[in-house]
Amino acid sequence: MTTASAPGKIILFGEHAVVYGRPALALPVTQVHAEAEILASNSTGIWIHAPGIHLHADLNSLPSDHPIAAVIHNFLFISRVSPFPNLEIKITSSIPVASGLGSGAAVTVALVRALSSFLVHPMTDEEVNAFAYDIEKLHHGTPSGIDNTVVTYAKPVYFVKATSFRAERSDSEVEAGEGNIIETFKPAAPFTIVIGDTGIPAPTKESVADVRRLWEADKARWEGVFDQVGEIAKEARTRIEIGDWRLLGDLMNQNHALLQEMTVSSPELDRLVDAARKAGAVGAKLSGGGRGGNMIALIQPENADEVSSALKSAGAKGTIVTQVI
Ligand code: PMV
Repeated sequence: MTTASAPGKIILFGEHAVVYGRPALALPVTQVHAEAEILASNSTGIWIHAPGIHLHADLNSLPSDHPIAAVIHNFLFISRVSPFPNLEIKITSSIPVASGLGSGAAVTVALVRALSSFLVHPMTDEEVNAFAYDIEKLHHGTPSGIDNTVVTYAKPVYFVKATSFRAERSDSEVEAGEGNIIETFKPAAPFTIVIGDTGIPAPTKESVADVRRLWEADKARWEGVFDQVGEIAKEARTRIEIGDWRLLGDLMNQNHALLQEMTVSSPELDRLVDAARKAGAVGAKLSGGGRGGNMIALIQPENADEVSSALKSAGAKGTIVTQVI
């Protein structure tokens, strides 16, 4: 038997602008994770059990673009494992789905790690990341790649997508991760984040497409907005690396205002952001694609209960307190 797991994630700074080549910061959220377990089986075929989504099926009965089936087919294809082995695969996840916490990327990463360890040899993080990016592209169109990166490395990540490089070549010619800047970094002092879930699915594909329409209609204006977001993300990394978390709160508030300008916030997200600030958070912003999903608040650890209950009173369906170390 082989098991592998991968954490959830949040985007701390720079969502949306990251699609246009500006830097973004993301953090792993280890309080939630996806896990894949693989066993040799006496029954014919590859049987998948994912009790959380009530899935108990033979691989061949699933459409080839089913998120789990796509991972297995792609892995068997690239690893040239033949004949197909008989397997039982169990997938569990405590990461809320479609909320911007990286549940899809975490399932992919956990599953491909378990498959490669069980059937061939463990893939390196670079191989896992490239594989997970290809799967993200199948489901999300033109993702920046930040989700699969932070989930694979399970460390705070500073990420810059290589857009100008990509513009010169078609996507199929560009190896996943090629030309991207991926730097893991370490906070000088721990800080605490509360994550508040609106309970509304985050339609990331739509919000990314809407921002693209805004940008196409007035590139000069939106390039300027993305530049401001990029500067905030760079400054935030510096503050984290010197342990100055107070200014980090202001930077979160500024980033949220720019996301509102991009039209990707929502009344529910704004309500949670306001509630967190009123309950004493140092700063707060939406996290991820927006319109739904999660918001995050930077807090002093002793305020965790107060901010969490204020978020719940303002409509949060769930909260997670995570320490970034
Ligand atoms: O909704 P999430 O957490 O998967 O984040 C999407 C982040 C965007 O910057 C909006 C899109 C992307 O591909 O980076």
